[in-house]
This record gives sequence, structure tokens and C-alpha cells, in this order.
Amino acid sequence: MSIQKQVKRITASDVASRKGDVPIVSLTAYDAPTAALVDEHCDVILVGDSLGMVVHGLASTVGVTLDMMIMHGKAVMRGSSRALVVVDLPFGSYEKSKEQAFDSAARVLAETGAQAVKLESGQYAAETVAFLVERGVPVMGHVGLRPQAVHVNGGFRAKGRTGEEREYILAEAKATADAGAFCVVVVGVAEDLAREITSLISAPTIGIGASVACDGQILVTEDMLGLFEWTPKFVKRYGDMRRLMGEAISEYADDVRARRFPAEAQLYQFKRAEPK
Ligand code: KIV
Repeated sequence: MSIQKQVKRITASDVASRKGDVPIVSLTAYDAPTAALVDEHCDVILVGDSLGMVVHGLASTVGVTLDMMIMHGKAVMRGSSRALVVVDLPFGSYEKSKEQAFDSAARVLAETGAQAVKLESGQYAAETVAFLVERGVPVMGHVGLRPQAVHVNGGFRAKGRTGEEREYILAEAKATADAGAFCVVVVGVAEDLAREITSLISAPTIGIGASVACDGQILVTEDMLGLFEWTPKFVKRYGDMRRLMGEAISEYADDVRARRFPAEAQLYQFKRAEPK
């Protein structure tokens, strides 16, 4: 029998205990090599359903399926060993009933090995969050801008900028935390609302387009690396991946056309058999 040294992953309880502590660092990843890079620096890796738009070129996250999430979840688990991996439950996989949500979450946890799921929560889903948590599924909540509700909201717009919306989102965040979510992602809301949510709820908040006062931050990795021409206002670009990739691909194309690639260094040569 071999005793393999296992690096202990950060758990949902570890994250829950970080309220008001050192900020929780999170990024998304959808594949193994990106997960390996993110894993070195982050506490939480989210396999977000944003993968539908970022990787699969969909116009929204509505077309993402549970099978897609599980496939990417498995890849991220293979690429990481330290961070808590959370997999998004996609549109249509949890809203019908708490039992449907449990079946989907159980598949995600069992088939990927990830330790938690995220769902776009709020008051309507509070019962579902409690049902999952009671049955052993750690849940990350998600309030504010809800991409899965794009067709009801008429687009991806920041939330909580009117009095009525503020009350609604505050109530969503409270309901999610009270139902037992180990943390709540606060997405695209007015800065002071994000502060208020953070000070009022017991679970740590993880902001994206929210406030520096949140207990942690998350961004879509490809956005912060600068892969896209357009990024939302709340994204700070930490890299220029689009330019770097464009330049490299263009240089490759030029080399192929000029027969400069493959060069001597990339060629295999015939191996003569050594005389016996
Ligand atoms: O799917 C995703 O990437 C998300 C982020 C907005 C947090 O939910």
C-alpha cells in the first residue's frame, strides 16, 4: 500500500470563517491548465457558467447544461489541488424544485469531486439552499445581477441603484445567508449596497462589480487577463492576453507562409541504428 501525501484543499467551512478577515481571493477557471495557474494564488476557483459565453461563444449563460458544467468541473479538479472548487448549477438544473436541485448538485459533487455548488439565489431559492446544505451540499449564493435571468431583466445591467431594487437585493442576500450559504457572491450592484450587504449578513461576501468592502473578490479570469476587446466597467485588466495571443498567432502564420517554421530545432532526424 502506498501512502500518498495529499495537500489539503481549502474547504467551504474555511471560507465561511473568513468573514471580516483577510480577503478571499477567487477567480474562474474552466480548464486544467488555467486551474493550475489560478490554484497557486487563489482560495476559491469558480467553474462559472460564464464558460458558456467565454469558452463556447454563447450569447448568454442560458444555454449552458449540467453536462457542460460537469465536464469543465472535472478538468478544473484535475488541474488544481489546493483551492476550494465551486461549480455553478446552470439555468434549468435547480429552479423547478429543491429535489431537482439536490439531484443536480449531487451529480456535480460525485462526478467532478468539487466540494461546493453555486446557484443564483435570493428569496425564491432560500428553501432550496437550506435543503441542499442540510443534505451535505455546501452552497455559494449569488445575488444582484443574475445572468441566468437575462431575459426577464432585459440585459446585463448593474443592480440596486434604485430604492426598491436595493431593498429587494438586500432581502435576497439575507435570505441566502440565513438559509445557510457558506458565502454569497454579490454581482454588479451599487457600491454602498455591497457595503451594506457585507455589514449585515453573517456569511462572507465575494464581490464582482461590487465593493472593496466585500470579504473577497472574484473576476472572470479571461476578462482580467484582457482576452476580450470589451470588458465590463468593473473589470481591471491585469494583462493583455488578446494582444499577446494575436501577435504570436500572426508570427506563426508568417513563419508558415515563409517556410521558416518548422526550423532545424523543431525537426526529428532519422536515427541510425548503432552497430552492435
Ligand atoms: O459564472 C460566473 O463566472 C459567475 C461570476 C459572475 C461570479 O457567476
